[in-house]
Amino acid sequence: MVIDQKYIDKFVRVTSRAALATFHLIGKKDKIAADKAAVDSMRSELNQLDINGQIVIGEGELDEAPMLYIGEKIGTKNGPDIDIAVDPLEGTNFAAYNLPGALSVIAIAEKNNLFKAPETYMEKISANVREKGVVDLDYSVKKNIFNLSDYLNKKPEDLTACIMDRPRHNSIIKELNNLKVKIKLITDGDVSGALLVTDKKYNVDIFLGIGGGPEGVLAASALDAYECVFQGRFLFNTDKDKIRAKKMGIKNLKKKYELNEIVSGDSIFCATGITTGDLLNGIVIKDKNFISETLVTHKSSKLKKIIKMQEKI
Ligand code: FBP
Repeated sequence: MVIDQKYIDKFVRVTSRAALATFHLIGKKDKIAADKAAVDSMRSELNQLDINGQIVIGEGELDEAPMLYIGEKIGTKNGPDIDIAVDPLEGTNFAAYNLPGALSVIAIAEKNNLFKAPETYMEKISANVREKGVVDLDYSVKKNIFNLSDYLNKKPEDLTACIMDRPRHNSIIKELNNLKVKIKLITDGDVSGALLVTDKKYNVDIFLGIGGGPEGVLAASALDAYECVFQGRFLFNTDKDKIRAKKMGIKNLKKKYELNEIVSGDSIFCATGITTGDLLNGIVIKDKNFISETLVTHKSSKLKKIIKMQEKI
């Protein structure tokens, strides 16, 4: 089964409206209010769609999040059964402090084809390679870089690695420095970070490091359409995390997931820019209209493009 192309425009509307809803809170130093504006808008737009949707990645468990909680049924129920992963505001700091790179993100797959990721960290790697075994979470940084350098026919010093600026990455960063790899450090927003490998114009050859698990699943759904490599391994640091994971049916807590185990079948991914960043331009208001940019992928129709829209507010 494929997800009908008619849904593409509808989901672009969902993320572009959520981005618009957050616009008036950019730079107001209130992460919670900015997130809430995006969540409220996204939920209300999704509930108008003729879909029988279920949130598999959202704002948290029912007891933590009243809206877009994991398991929430969404849509008019008059349509296909689909799994939905949302991050209405990816980069709450970016929006609150008017920094580049805030996005509103959604991924849709056929029912039971999107991994129900726990709210925990994930070790991730992505690269624009078609072959297995070039980069791998189980390899050392050095082996990944040397393999990628052979594969891309570039010297290690001509490769760029994107990684989040976190103390937990000190040893990876040190190794990248030893190998003279160029480093693109990002302060937040690793959905965007992982997607920078998709096009040469972004000048990133590999993304690696630990970020949010839900963000990993969202990035994987777009990377699938680009036929890039992505692997993820959840990190369960506390007993609470481990118990929750077992409840969610995860038996092997140390498992390395390949992309096709995270998202399978057909999928649609949409990310709209809220503030201008590496991937997308942010929302611009012009008279009574707003201009938005949305990166859209639809696996079965091989669609991968940035859609620029001007609409009435
Ligand atoms: P929020 O939008 O929820 O603030 O997440 C931003 C983010 O940078 C994600 O892109 C990333 O996966 C995660 O936070 C990393 O978490 P931490 O800041 O704890 O390292």
